[in-house]
Amino acid sequence: MQPLPTCTTWANPVGPPCQPGQRAATRGRYEESALRKIPLVLAAAVAALGAAHASAQGGDPNLGRNLAATCANCHGTNGVSVDVVESLAGMPRDEIVRKMQDYKKGTKPGTIMPQIAKGYTDAQIEVLGAWFAAQKAK
Ligand code: HEC
Repeated sequence: MQPLPTCTTWANPVGPPCQPGQRAATRGRYEESALRKIPLVLAAAVAALGAAHASAQGGDPNLGRNLAATCANCHGTNGVSVDVVESLAGMPRDEIVRKMQDYKKGTKPGTIMPQIAKGYTDAQIEVLGAWFAAQKAK
């Protein structure tokens, strides 16, 4: 069988366009192509994730405040509620952690908290509990 002539694909810009079923001569081209960089990009992404994970373990002194900012819309600034939703400020750390874990497991009913609690790791829940417990209830 005669070898197919070289044709053009994204990886091999030289030659006439490929016809259906025609195999492009990409060998060698791969060496210079962007495909080679994919493992490098992945490695960088994994490294970045690792760094984010490390800060969730308590490396960032503002972590508690930053995590808790998400809760402020409903539970008030610094956990001091001005509405019907319970204040979190000054609630014992263990109580906050237990309630968040119960929402997460689905053993504590709620309209919105079961969804929210599922978005936090156990470590983040610990940080949130400690942060709100340390805030002054008004
Ligand atoms: C969209 C509004 C909203 C947000 C955002 C929100 N909560 Fe809640 N939270 C509620 C509501 C409403 C309840 C009452 C239970 C329910 O209906 O889910 C509640 C209940 C709670 C309770 C139990 C209070 C008690 O004494 O029973 C805890 C603890 C709690 N939230 C923690 C948090 C934390 C921590 C965050 C941020 C990570 C947060 N919530 C974010 C609306 C919200």
